[in-house]
Amino acid sequence: MKILVTGGAGFIGSHTCVELLNGGYEIAVLDNLCNSNIKSLERVKEITGKTFNFYNVDLLDYEATDKVFKNEKFDAVIHFAGLKAVGESVEKPLLYYHNNITGTLNLLDIMRKNGVFNIVFSSSATVYGSPKSLPIKEDFPLSTTNPYGSTKLMIEGILNDLYKADNRFSVTILRYFNPIGAHESGKIGEDPKGIPNNLMPYIQQVAIGKLPILSVFGNKYPTKDGTGVRDYIHVVDLSVAHVKAVEKKSGQPGVYVYNVGTGNGYSVLEMVKAFEKASGKEVKYKICPNRPGDIAACYADASKAEEELDWTAKFGLEEMCRDGWNWQKNNPNGYED
Ligand code: NAD
Ligand code: UD1
Repeated sequence: MKILVTGGAGFIGSHTCVELLNGGYEIAVLDNLCNSNIKSLERVKEITGKTFNFYNVDLLDYEATDKVFKNEKFDAVIHFAGLKAVGESVEKPLLYYHNNITGTLNLLDIMRKNGVFNIVFSSSATVYGSPKSLPIKEDFPLSTTNPYGSTKLMIEGILNDLYKADNRFSVTILRYFNPIGAHESGKIGEDPKGIPNNLMPYIQQVAIGKLPILSVFGNKYPTKDGTGVRDYIHVVDLSVAHVKAVEKKSGQPGVYVYNVGTGNGYSVLEMVKAFEKASGKEVKYKICPNRPGDIAACYADASKAEEELDWTAKFGLEEMCRDGWNWQKNNPNGYED
């Protein structure tokens, strides 16, 4: 079976390429490298000892994307390609709508024309907005608070409409909680451009001395210690969920939606402590005002993925921190080293 991985040079995509290749799948990667480095794919080849084609193509370029489908016969697509920075999406909404929505519309039209009907799509727990209770189940009401989240919700709607109109499609929507960590080899990991927005890359850069201090966004939330609680998931576990989705759902027309999380919620301060323990480094922090748009707590009920995809998270917080640190200390400047 051959899979096209859009956005395969990125953080989650590169880890998924490793799991697909190790699982015996053939792959090709399409990425315009707007938020990634080609070196990630060289490392994927090193880790797996396998090779594959890479297409430096923008999904906004319809003809070039169509050519990729003419060049190789794919059985399924895993669609990671998209822009993902919440703050930037508020400043540049048109960029986000154009890239994420138009890119996906092009991809879906090209898939249909070329007879490829299996797709796994990267959605996010952000589509639950501020959940009414916890843990979050897939049938909770959906809403968003920023353009990035809106692109995810709109694409989910587009995929549902597409299946209604053409029931040859098999659509699996994976709603990720908070992916962190890295491959155990320390060769691939998250390589944010500039100052990280997300908690774990920020903590990692404080631990290695690239950033002076972590700002903890609020300590008056109604949570165990007042700081925000999230469901952190090891990126390798998340990647395996994609392999399971392809394995179980390809050729099964329908729309399937799954939470991909561990079901455990950890606070910001718990994450700081766990990371200090794993790295042996101090992570200095200061309490700051809440970040606008943040919710107090968010964690998954991931039982549907367990029942239907035969998937559960295998790694705990210790391994997430260990592997995140291993990547950071071996590559203090990411792929630029
Ligand atoms: P990433 O930025 O590392 O990877 C995305 C990749 O898509 C990048 O390599 C980028 O160059 C590529 N890309 C973007 N626009 C493109 C276009 N028009 N054409 C071709 N390639 C394009 O991000 P990631 O963390 O690996 O996330 C992958 C997907 O998962 C994204 O869709 C993201 O929104 C979603 N997601 C991520 C998280 C998270 O915390 N990382 C959480 C929920 C959902
Ligand atoms: C953020 C996005 C979300 C996106 C997800 C994955 C926002 C509002 N939400 O989620 O839409 O799907 O990333 O990309 O940006 N924190 C600090 N200090 C920091 C950074 C974070 O205290 O420097 C806290 C946050 O307040 C939060 C927790 O750490 O409580 C996790 O934050 P983050 O890693 O940014 O993820 P989310 O906010 O869950």
